[in-house]
Amino acid sequence: MSSLFEEIATPPADNIPVRRITVNVNGTDRTLDVEPRLLLADLLRQGLDLTGTHKGCDTTNCGACTVLVAGRPVKSCTMLAVQADGREVQTVEGLATPSELHPIQEGFKQEHGLQCGFCTPGMMLSAKALLERNPNPTEDEIRWALSGNLCRCTGYQNIVKAVLWAAEKMRAESN
Ligand code: FES
Ligand code: FES
Repeated sequence: MSSLFEEIATPPADNIPVRRITVNVNGTDRTLDVEPRLLLADLLRQGLDLTGTHKGCDTTNCGACTVLVAGRPVKSCTMLAVQADGREVQTVEGLATPSELHPIQEGFKQEHGLQCGFCTPGMMLSAKALLERNPNPTEDEIRWALSGNLCRCTGYQNIVKAVLWAAEKMRAESN
């Protein structure tokens, strides 16, 4: 699929160069013409309408904008869109299938791991990266993996329980 960022944003001035990039977003190749200064978070939210990636600070503090780039959690407010060229990006919209929630999403539901939900997409993607490299994490390991994600509702206890719930379900499914 191909689309132009200019189709949905103010066209750049003639003297600002654009660069063509192809990013695999949630399993689909997207080819876009972007300004080199465009942040990955803005490409996702404004360019591709993937507004599940939240922006809470724009300064790499809160983690609300966390997405997976080549499977690793990245704060997309501090990564340029052009740096994602040729790479795989996963956002929270890519977690569930059309018929089923991802076990991490189920875990947040079962254990009441969210209140306002603003931090939730970033928390879930950081948790996914953790569970892919460590299917049986301790509570401490979960807290460490999520230490770059702030929850302003301070529901950390239930977030940790949600990740433990998801880890158990994912282990059961893989047996
Ligand atoms: S918006 Fe990116 S870390 Fe807060
Ligand atoms: S649930 Fe509100 S910020 Fe975390």
